[in-house]
Amino acid sequence: MVIKFTEGPSIRKPTDSSSYNSIMKAVLRLILIFFILVCFGLFYKIHMTLPLNHQNDPAIKPFLFPNIKVPANEIPINEATNNLRPEEILHQGNGIFFVETTDRMEPPYVTLCAVESAARIYPNRPIAFFMKGLPEDRDGDKAKYRIRTLSSYDNIYLFPLRLEEVFYDTPLLSWYRKVKPEHESYWTDVTSDASRLALIWKYGGIYMDNDIISVRPVPLKNFVAAESNDVYSNSIFGCVPHHMFSWRSMEDFVQNYNGSILGHQGPALFARILKKVFCVLRGFKYTEDVRCGNMTLTNPDRFYPIPESSWKKYYEVVDQFRPFSSSYAVHLFENSNQGKYNMVPGSKTLVDRLYEQYCPYTYVTVLMKDRSSH
Ligand SMILES: *[C@@H]1O[C@H](CO)[C@@H](O)[C@H](O)[C@H]1NC(C)=O
Ligand SMILES: *[C@@H]1O[C@H](CO)[C@@H](O)[C@H](O)[C@H]1NC(C)=O
Repeated sequence: MVIKFTEGPSIRKPTDSSSYNSIMKAVLRLILIFFILVCFGLFYKIHMTLPLNHQNDPAIKPFLFPNIKVPANEIPINEATNNLRPEEILHQGNGIFFVETTDRMEPPYVTLCAVESAARIYPNRPIAFFMKGLPEDRDGDKAKYRIRTLSSYDNIYLFPLRLEEVFYDTPLLSWYRKVKPEHESYWTDVTSDASRLALIWKYGGIYMDNDIISVRPVPLKNFVAAESNDVYSNSIFGCVPHHMFSWRSMEDFVQNYNGSILGHQGPALFARILKKVFCVLRGFKYTEDVRCGNMTLTNPDRFYPIPESSWKKYYEVVDQFRPFSSSYAVHLFENSNQGKYNMVPGSKTLVDRLYEQYCPYTYVTVLMKDRSSH
């Protein structure tokens, strides 16, 4: 560059050229500093979006980084298995079932956490999430891509919930064809109660409500969960395909249907069937499970370590997190909460610690949303 100036009409003095040089150096230095700042900024942004205690946790990074680069709508959920029918995935009778009977297609975080925790606890079993809002036609598979949080797990499958098809070949079909949804007070609840019975009858496996966080595998095939000494829940239960328990439950559902009583087709129905067909219900003495015919009644500790009356405990700060050592899963009581209390990352509440440990990708998703909205 200095040479270029020598071509000019008057030869520049050395001082001119050296001041030009020092200006260039200053500019280069500025560019360098700017570049370093940008790098630091990027590093900081990526680094700080990880949960603080888990910066070196290999469990989280693989979920975070692949998803940062890819635009949300292009992430396939189980690309290879799109267009598969439920029976192709669930024929082994070991599926874990979730059902969404509203039309919403953006599940709340607690649902994402429930499904993610199941996918982690049961890596070798299919997790089938039936959603009424998934479009009927096959092009609807694109809708699956929207639920990013679940896309990191290749054992999660989304299926449209087609009630007529689910109830087909079961006692529930006659009820379904007669009933008038517009006259029903609890339509999403009763269709949810009904479809879980039909799915477990047909495919076999474990049904779970959308607010149940899995913490270790359930080692049982045929079970009903006690919520307390005398309440039997239908929030989680399991049966092999074509077990009498789910068939008799569907029959009772139809025979004794009363849509104006919430739970009449749910927990109350399970208590009726157990008493009528399987055993005398005596409750629990300690923390033991109880045999009831060829079903197991699980102790309240297994899925309800905190009873419904104390559900707010999940949103209280705990100094030390003691994992629920005698539970297979933890029921969070979203029905009581109704979305009033949320999981706040870093709050050290029980839900904060549960999410962090059992659904880390959902946890990071909430964390990133929190950071970007402040
Ligand atoms: C379970 O017990 C019922 C009632 O005793 C019986 O009819 C049914 O065949 C049994 N089912 C299985 C799968 O063992
Ligand atoms: C359903 O339950 C309500 C409330 O207990 C009762 O008034 C009504 O008669 C019941 N309906 C039927 C069809 O049994």
